[in-house]
Amino acid sequence: AATTVYQAESATVSQGVVESNHAGYTGTGFVNYDNASGSYVQWTVNAAAAGTATLTVRFANGTTTNRPMTIAVNGTTAASGVAFNGTGNWDTWQDVNVNVTLNAGANTVRATATTANGGPNVDKLTVTDGGGSSGPSM
Ligand code: GCU
Repeated sequence: AATTVYQAESATVSQGVVESNHAGYTGTGFVNYDNASGSYVQWTVNAAAAGTATLTVRFANGTTTNRPMTIAVNGTTAASGVAFNGTGNWDTWQDVNVNVTLNAGANTVRATATTANGGPNVDKLTVTDGGGSSGPSM
C-alpha cells in the first residue's frame, strides 16, 4: 500500500481561510473553515489503480461540539455525518479515517461541513491505498 499526504493549505477551499495561528499543524498551516454549513476543502488525489483506500483527515476542534462533515469522492457522497468531535483545544490534532473507493488516476475528495458551526480546523489528508505491492507476492 502507498501513503500520500495532501496538505489542506494546498487544496481548494470554499468558505475558509488558511491560517497558522495554532500549533501542531504539518506543512505550512491548516484550513480554518468558515462557521457556515457548506464550507469545504477539496483535494485532488491520485491513485495508481482503482480500488479501496483509507482517507485520514487530521483535524483540531477546540470546542466541545461535534462538527460533522460529509466526505464526497468524485462528487458522490462516500460518508455522511462523519464526526469531528472536540479535541480539547485548537492545538490538539486527531485523525478520522474513512474508507472509500478511488478511480485510477485523479479523484476529487471534498470534506463539507454540514452545520452552521462549519468544519473543524483541518491540517491534511492522508491517502493510503489498498493496493498490493508491485513486487513478488508473499
Ligand atoms: C477560533 C479558532 C479558529 C477556529 C474557530 C472556529 O476562532 O481560533 O482556529 O477555526 O474558533 O470556531 O471555527
